[in-house]
Amino acid sequence: MTLQDDIQTAANFIREGKLAAFPTETVYGLGADAFNPDAVAKIFELKKRPAFDPLIVHIADTNDLKKLSAAPEERLYRIAENFWPGPLTVIVSKKEEVPGIVTAGLKTVAVRMPAHQTALDLIKTAGCPVAAPSANLFGRISPTKAEHVRKQLPGVDFILDGGRTTVGIESTIIHLTKKGFRILRNGIITKEEIEKIIPFDKSNVKKAASAPGMLNAHYSPVKKIRIADDRVLAETNKDRAALIAFSDTFHSHFHRVILMTQNKNLKEYAANMFEAMHILEEDREIETIIAEPVPEKGIGIAIMDKLRKAEYDWK
Ligand code: TXA
Ligand code: MG
Repeated sequence: MTLQDDIQTAANFIREGKLAAFPTETVYGLGADAFNPDAVAKIFELKKRPAFDPLIVHIADTNDLKKLSAAPEERLYRIAENFWPGPLTVIVSKKEEVPGIVTAGLKTVAVRMPAHQTALDLIKTAGCPVAAPSANLFGRISPTKAEHVRKQLPGVDFILDGGRTTVGIESTIIHLTKKGFRILRNGIITKEEIEKIIPFDKSNVKKAASAPGMLNAHYSPVKKIRIADDRVLAETNKDRAALIAFSDTFHSHFHRVILMTQNKNLKEYAANMFEAMHILEEDREIETIIAEPVPEKGIGIAIMDKLRKAEYDWK
């Protein structure tokens, strides 16, 4: 079987109303035909995802915005031109035809065009926009390899294996307001980059109203994970603990150390983070995972968001 055959197979499954997991540049997605509500329902079922958490719809052609957005505005095309294909999701007003199950009943829909040739070929071959959340069980570690999908979702109809994802963390999500844009989820595309295209909307808003699925706990390994600080380090039995390291500050005495980057490169940290969590989740000698914090600037904001959510249930 060649990759082309696999793309065709995955596309057939999606066309038939079944599910196919597929690679993107960020993480693997669990895809279904966005215009088939029964197929989309299977995503929620397989992932055990609550119905109030809306999905991102993936397209391979900017023209497809017209199928999803009630009134695609000029700013949207400017964003598309600058960042697509790429790890940026935009929330737009939804066309009536987009099934309510995709958007959890909201009047808006999240859209992105992934920067991954296999994903683009799949969407084109399937011939429909593809609704896809990350291909993990709800609340668990996101998948950056086909085997991570297999581990958590063995019941999926098909996994299109495109190797390891390169960005490693989910897309940045933005919302357009009258004044500019707001960030609903941080990712590798930073506020500073988007600001070059449209202004950042600084006005204060209630967080819960704009981001229904943004829960505090998320991305968690099934074992204890804590962000390193003096107290956490003092409390931890290092014989049974692993360190996800950013620098060489804390290495001594840990049973296992995974250094995320040789030269404090945050992009590299992001690319390796979920894979390190998967490896440590599987390591039977490890009871506790300690993650070294990174500077909260640029991509570091997204990394710290993920670490805090992973840690949330263990504090
Ligand atoms: O990189 C990514 O974005 C990956 C790959 C597969 O494309 N997808 C992904 O999907 O991370 P998911 O479902 O794990 O996260 C989507 C987030 C959810 O937190 C959801 O609440 C938010 O997008 N979202 C979706 N539609 C929305 C809407 N209409 N308004 C506000 N937030 C929305
Ligand atoms: Mg997810």
